[in-house]
Amino acid sequence: MIHAKRWTLKKHFVGNPTSSDFELKTAELPPLKNREVLLEALFLTGDPYMRVAAKRLKEGDTMMGQQVARFVESKNAALPTGTIVLAPSGWTAHSISDGKDLEKLPTEWPDTVPLSLALGTVSMTGLTAYFGLLDICGVKGGETVMVNAAAGAVGSVLGQITKFKGCKVVGAVGSDKKTAYLKKLGSDVVFNYKTKSSPDGYNCYFDNFSNTVISQMKKFARIAICGAISTYNVYISTYNTCNPSPTPEIVIYQELHIEGFIVTCWPGDAHQKALKDLRKWVSQGKIQYQEYIIEGFENMPAAFMGMLERDNLGKTIVKA
Ligand SMILES: NC(=O)c1ccc[n+]([C@@H]2O[C@H](COP(=O)([O-])OP(=O)(O)OC[C@H]3O[C@@H](n4cnc5c(N)ncnc54)[C@H](OP(=O)(O)O)[C@@H]3O)[C@@H](O)[C@H]2O)c1
Repeated sequence: MIHAKRWTLKKHFVGNPTSSDFELKTAELPPLKNREVLLEALFLTGDPYMRVAAKRLKEGDTMMGQQVARFVESKNAALPTGTIVLAPSGWTAHSISDGKDLEKLPTEWPDTVPLSLALGTVSMTGLTAYFGLLDICGVKGGETVMVNAAAGAVGSVLGQITKFKGCKVVGAVGSDKKTAYLKKLGSDVVFNYKTKSSPDGYNCYFDNFSNTVISQMKKFARIAICGAISTYNVYISTYNTCNPSPTPEIVIYQELHIEGFIVTCWPGDAHQKALKDLRKWVSQGKIQYQEYIIEGFENMPAAFMGMLERDNLGKTIVKA
């Protein structure tokens, strides 16, 4: 019998989440039924979208999210014990699945690539950078791309793809430690937006949290609105709560193209091709990965809150 731990939303967040908003619960799991598998979490993730998605939970519900998990018991011949999968099991240490929502890691997953990357660089956050830059911004060689939260999970991948696509990348970050990291990764210009203002002249702007450089765009520039993390902890959360709206004059006279997007809008073959590209670029060393790893399932809330407090370099991962 497994005593399964899970983190639940005890109270809806008001402003920044606090430890008392979460509760760790333990329950005995029932024996597996025919076709079911028992999952054990190996790696979990703390993502900005969870701050927003938690509003849709009821108090007492398990926190949502994907995990890299291993089957520790199986009553399904097609899913043998030991198989590693990506599972939407939320903040659970052990869970039971009928196998339907699970995604097996590809057999060609390179030994040299950590499994945790299946939650970040070679998964949702890498895909966000990939599609946002290549499809939404439609970046062309020689252009200048600006990205904020540039040392984060999405931003750090985006900057590196920008570079090897023959473009110049300008990264905005919130600390000098993040500035140093991005310089090491080869960003052309990095600045701490808390102490310096942005240079001018962008063809593309990949926006993770505000629109403050909108007046610095070139004519016909493209802006991919990826996220709005600076508003997520604001009580009445709407885009631009913390930042002034782009003035219509600038958008009109600079003939800017602004588009919001969600990473799940590229399913099927496009999704598989992008994953293959990301896996290849990581194996070839074209994309360096950085993870902000917190040890221990009991530290899930701390990892999530740390990311929202801007502690992270790269993808926030909990090693269960
Ligand atoms: N559209 C999509 O499909 C999609 C998919 C994935 C992620 N996203 C969005 O992309 C953005 C980046 O996500 P990520 O996973 O890569 O996160 P992340 O960048 O790894 O972590 C969050 C970073 O955001 C920055 N930040 C700026 N203002 C903040 C604030 N008020 N509170 C907290 N952090 C703030 C911080 O970096 P600095 O210290 O450098 O400011 C922080 O480290 C988020 O807005 C997320 O919602 C969108």
